[in-house]
Amino acid sequence: MAFLIAKLSIFTLPILSILATQTTCRVVPEKLSMLERHEQWMVRYGRVYKDNEERVIHFKIFKDNVEFIEAFNEAGTRSYKLGINAFADQTNDEFKAARNGLKVHKLPKITSFRYENMSALPSSMDWRKKGAVTPIKDQGQCGSCWAFSAIAATEGINQLSTGKLISLSEQEIVDCDKTSQDQGCGGGYMEDAFEFITKNKGIAAESTYPYKAANGICNKNEETSHAAEISGYEKVPINSEKALLKAVANQPVSVSIDAGEMDFQFYSSGVFTGECGTDLDHGVTAVGFGETADGKKYWLVKNSWGTSWGEEGYIRMERDVSAKQGICGIAMDSSYPIA
Ligand SMILES: *[C@@H]1O[C@H](CO)[C@@H](O)[C@H](O)[C@H]1NC(C)=O
Repeated sequence: MAFLIAKLSIFTLPILSILATQTTCRVVPEKLSMLERHEQWMVRYGRVYKDNEERVIHFKIFKDNVEFIEAFNEAGTRSYKLGINAFADQTNDEFKAARNGLKVHKLPKITSFRYENMSALPSSMDWRKKGAVTPIKDQGQCGSCWAFSAIAATEGINQLSTGKLISLSEQEIVDCDKTSQDQGCGGGYMEDAFEFITKNKGIAAESTYPYKAANGICNKNEETSHAAEISGYEKVPINSEKALLKAVANQPVSVSIDAGEMDFQFYSSGVFTGECGTDLDHGVTAVGFGETADGKKYWLVKNSWGTSWGEEGYIRMERDVSAKQGICGIAMDSSYPIA
């Protein structure tokens, strides 16, 4: 910041005062060096390195990422763009280790599917417009995606059944849910989170049991505070985008995806068509679907990486692909809570 202020006061201010008297002006930005861009990026995202050595290491990663992102966008061959976001100084491996946190795929459990006989599905749905989606949250450096995914789906069904949109507590899931292999920031399963909320006979509000982006000891007092409840959950039949559509037409649904590639880390806008595989490592929430003006069908997906990522925190992911698993495996492992 100091650098920019110095520059403004010495060189730019006299020019600005001349330009201020004219009716139009266009200041041509000079091309910043990569070091300057890193510096500006650090200011924008409040990034501080503990010493120069760490700064040099992360500058190198930043530079590689920026070059990757710019080459991708310049090629312009895809229906989506990448952007230099808050994760621009992390390698893809560091990013995955710190952020995702869906446990390796369990054997699919078969439950009944209440929406199987639905016909007459709408051509688009956006649960945000129906008031069933809370603002974008940020899981931070904690592998608690599974808790955010399950909570977003629970917030949705709670709004649909009670008419009230209440932001609910991911931290309670992180701290208190010890169902099977759930480990807070170490990862877990959305279905287990639904099971926990069911057995606990409810879940606290976000405001009662706020998020800390770290493992903590279960607060038994707050655990008894219930802002919403569910009676159980069901799984969407696997490997069927058709079945997923029936579910998402009725409520926000927890879905699992492979978010492990750089294209996903730096996704900024458009309909995402991959690169990605089907190694499910991230839990998110499908909150709608639709089709672009030029006929590209997509899933509307709520992520938990803050609003600087993607389309204000959301991603549109290609829908009705040839692989039965769906894009990034989105049709492989989905579930939803029931009121
Ligand atoms: C769907 O329809 C079939 C055939 O009529 C019926 O057996 C099944 O119970 C229905 N499923 C649900 C969830 O209503």
